[in-house]
Amino acid sequence: MAKLAAGLRHRDWDGPALAGSSSSVADSRPADHAFTCRPAVFGDSRQIARFTCTAGEGLYEFLFDNLIPFVGAADFLTLAVATPRYPVSFSNWFVAIGDADGSIIGAANVFPADLLKHDDHAVLPLERRTHIRPLLELQDWGSMFLNALAVSERHRRCGVGARLLAWAEDKARQAGLDRLSLHAWADNKTAVDFYTKRDFVPLGVAEIPHHPRLPHVGGSILMRRNVSFR
Ligand SMILES: CC(C)(COP(=O)(O)OP(=O)(O)OC[C@H]1O[C@@H](n2cnc3c(N)ncnc32)[C@H](O)[C@@H]1OP(=O)(O)O)[C@@H](O)C(=O)NCCC(=O)NCCS
Repeated sequence: MAKLAAGLRHRDWDGPALAGSSSSVADSRPADHAFTCRPAVFGDSRQIARFTCTAGEGLYEFLFDNLIPFVGAADFLTLAVATPRYPVSFSNWFVAIGDADGSIIGAANVFPADLLKHDDHAVLPLERRTHIRPLLELQDWGSMFLNALAVSERHRRCGVGARLLAWAEDKARQAGLDRLSLHAWADNKTAVDFYTKRDFVPLGVAEIPHHPRLPHVGGSILMRRNVSFR
């Protein structure tokens, strides 16, 4: 789940460029599900913001909607993604492009979890900040943090998520970090199963009280998997 975005003030980590950054997937999938992956660019910011909202499952709407009239979560996130110094910057994203029409069909964002220590949520109303505090505080410090992973509904179960996850693991390895961590809502069974099957284990649960605008049940699970350097 995407957890933190526009409030992140500092970006003092310049992740190495991805070696062999582009990869084609051509196998037995139907042609309209073929895709290619590449690092994101500035011009992807708006679309990436939408994928961030998908990954957050209501979190960003809860945090950002109605702070300013007619400005929604995707608008706030677009600005954050377009800003190079933020961890959520486009430069820390990898996107999957559908061969059929060239649109982005999936996206992932990683950065070292320790960057969250510099987070600045001053822009958010105190009530919203306080509500999600358990989630903000429960982190696997020292790991690479998978802040967002989402695939458009039409293209799920075609290997896009697995490919983006493999990129996230590569980024951890390249940064010399031996763990990849993430948060997933406990009631997001598809995501929890997806990660569990890929060797992620739960480290703890951030209890988030029920809120009509963030109606998740069971809190948010911090999950982690070791990254091999072989
Ligand atoms: C979780 C999520 C990212 C997974 O993405 P995805 O692209 O569907 O993932 P994959 O296709 O790689 O894998 C999903 C399943 O499809 C299967 N699959 C992949 N290619 C397939 C194919 N050609 N035919 C049949 N099944 C296939 C995989 O084996 C996997 O099943 P498994 O987990 O039982 O092994 C996606 O469901 C999503 O975007 N959800 C909404 C946002 C979200 O919840 N994000 C996570 C926040 S923490």
